[in-house]
Amino acid sequence: MAKETVTITDNSTGKSIEVPLLRGTEGPPVADIGKLYSELGIFTYDPGFTSTASCESKITYIDGENGILRYRGYPVEQLAQKSSHLEVCYLLLHGELPSKNQFETFRKNIAHHSMIHEGLKSFFNGFSRDAHPMAIMVGVVGAMSAFYHDSLDIFNTDHRDLSADRIIAKMTTIAAYSYKYSMGQPFVYPNNDLSYAENFLHMMFSVPAERYEPNPVIADALDKIFILHADHEQNASTSTVRLAGSSQANPFACISSGITALWGPAHGGANEAVIRMLMKIGKPENVPKYVEMAKDKNSTFRLMGFGHRVYKNYDPRAKIIKKIAGDVLKELNIHTPLLEIALKLEEIALNDPYFIEKKLYPNVDFYSGFILQAIGIPLNMFTVIFALGRTPGWISQWMEMIAEPKQKIGRPRQLYVGAPERDYIEMAKR
Ligand code: SDX
Repeated sequence: MAKETVTITDNSTGKSIEVPLLRGTEGPPVADIGKLYSELGIFTYDPGFTSTASCESKITYIDGENGILRYRGYPVEQLAQKSSHLEVCYLLLHGELPSKNQFETFRKNIAHHSMIHEGLKSFFNGFSRDAHPMAIMVGVVGAMSAFYHDSLDIFNTDHRDLSADRIIAKMTTIAAYSYKYSMGQPFVYPNNDLSYAENFLHMMFSVPAERYEPNPVIADALDKIFILHADHEQNASTSTVRLAGSSQANPFACISSGITALWGPAHGGANEAVIRMLMKIGKPENVPKYVEMAKDKNSTFRLMGFGHRVYKNYDPRAKIIKKIAGDVLKELNIHTPLLEIALKLEEIALNDPYFIEKKLYPNVDFYSGFILQAIGIPLNMFTVIFALGRTPGWISQWMEMIAEPKQKIGRPRQLYVGAPERDYIEMAKR
């Protein structure tokens, strides 16, 4: 079959070039414009990367129009229902579901690395007690490269595998320690007899003075939350991890950069911002006023947890999380007025021409906070939970990028609109 191409013509010079049109397994084809500058002397311009594919990947597929999300080809609905977060970590890292033996080996590997270096624990004492746990995570994860020197050679596959296991295993411990530090409670060592989610709950909520048994309903809900956040194609934080990794920085530094990017309320910080927004709305009767504010161009107010760059349909994760939230609140017999406000907000927004026309639906962050609150996780830990869930995605995307034979440092260009050349003016003449 003849190679498919796209013709790009610069009408200002009349010059044209044919660039390859590449097709993947699914999704829109891409125009490979790598030679555009060398042959036509022009750059593409796409702030926010609304029409730009930054890489080739086999990990996650999203169809935003139809609300489809698959990890390595498996629909996220099936994985949330039938798999576990640890099995999804294996799937994202290795591309296939593990056999029983493969999973057992992987589980033991992750458990083996669940403790952190005792020296790393003293890092926490440098933070003020009211430090945001995301600030602690950024610092402590970045500092891991100061402790784990034996897995920093990014061109050594054994080092890469060891770093991946360490990051997946230790993120839960670091996250739980960030919480314990803020509470002034003693750190609780991991218990490797517990599942990934149970171990996290154990490190978060057990205290030396009392027995603690993780509630299986809560552990199951948390495990599903981790699965649903595990990866999401080339989102802002994953793209940050890839760009940091393209300079050949060590994996701990790259994951720390991903945590930083995730923190923003336009991205992973939205789960915390949703609850704060609902608290500000205060009661269902106030919802119409805030929906109008969200539509007002002169207002900076946005409906947090609504809208998405890719999903122009209901975020499939939000559907699942909304159901889990209802089940957990019912199971724990918790009635929260904020849920009533959220349901009212969704009902009004989904029937409002502004949101319909702009295809704004609830995203992954709109309902997740209800589950986290019901579990007893404080607001400032919500994005930490998102980072925990996303860690296997970040490290899998980093592994894929590093292993890419054509991998090179990411270095975008720009449209310069600053001052033309001019001569220095002595201070006395200014
Ligand atoms: C995540 O990329 C990923 O995959 C991210 C994520 C992942 O798993 O990694 O899915 C996780 O980050 C989910 C998104 C969490 N963020 C929020 O909930 C914050 C609120 N949402 C928005 O700020 C916004 O919708 C974004 C940031 C999510 C998407 O922004 P885009 O794609 O750049 O869209 P835009 O800002 O250009 O908005 C398009 C239009 C605008 O109106 P016009 O200028 O065209 O007239 O829709 C409007 C916006 O004003 N709009 C909203 C809105 N979101 C978009 N209006 C009111 N409330 C909103 N929430």
